[in-house]
Amino acid sequence: MNIVNAKGLTKDYGSLRAVDNIDFHILEGECFGFLGPNGAGKTTVMSIIYCFMPPTSGKVQVFGIDVTENPGLIKSRIGVMPQDDNLDVELSVFENLIVYARYFNILKKDSSRLALELLDFVELRDKADVNIRNLSGGMKRKLILARALINKPGLLILDEPTTGLDPHSRHSVWDKLNHQKSNNTTLILTTHYMEEAEKLCDRVAIMNSGRIITIDTPSNLMDTHGAKNLEDVYLKLTGRRLAE
Ligand SMILES: Nc1ncnc2c1ncn2[C@@H]1O[C@H](COP(=O)(O)OP(=O)(O)OP(=O)(O)O)[C@@H](O)[C@H]1O
Ligand SMILES: [Mg+2]
Repeated sequence: MNIVNAKGLTKDYGSLRAVDNIDFHILEGECFGFLGPNGAGKTTVMSIIYCFMPPTSGKVQVFGIDVTENPGLIKSRIGVMPQDDNLDVELSVFENLIVYARYFNILKKDSSRLALELLDFVELRDKADVNIRNLSGGMKRKLILARALINKPGLLILDEPTTGLDPHSRHSVWDKLNHQKSNNTTLILTTHYMEEAEKLCDRVAIMNSGRIITIDTPSNLMDTHGAKNLEDVYLKLTGRRLAE
């Protein structure tokens, strides 16, 4: 079954065409990555999938539901890690999870237990009572991951989940995401780390200037382009070299 189906997806911001007539589908249980340089349109595509904004034209279905017809139902079944941290800085780590759980009508007694379980999962239990302002950048990313899991989503949307994390924390987040995948959660992610895409993604779409240049498995892409790794493929297709 396709968890996401997009046909002719286009998004304009005023006169700027950020996403230009793209087609893709995402299968149940797979990890699908959007790769591409800054401004390629990755976050725009993700935001439309998680019903933050509607497409300008084209059709997008998530769980078979059109994003313009029942965004509330789609939102109740997905977890989102946005590119920008949007935690409530007035609240503690624990309170951030509890308040978020209310959006999903999770009962108070259940949300407390769930919040503590998730803090264990992301290794932040000892920070439960700490204010958000006193967390490191990496701790905030992990808390946002925990928050995205509070409604036990069937689809997780991860916009640069490990940007700014140190190598240890990055590996730890990869473990958590693989754990979700092994529970048959579908993952959609964007990343600028080709190692991350190779480790996690079953298929990737490489984007540039609002278009999809190619969609395939990392190993097929390497074979097709005679490349030794995904970074090489990326360089060949986008003309962009990653961090020197
Ligand atoms: N809210 C907005 N209003 C106007 N233009 C926008 C808005 N959001 C994004 N854009 C523009 O749309 C294009 C695509 O942006 P988007 O954020 O989707 O790219 P991205 O691939 O996620 O890039 P990055 O790797 O930097 O996160 C860019 O040209 C950007 O300037
Ligand atoms: Mg982005």
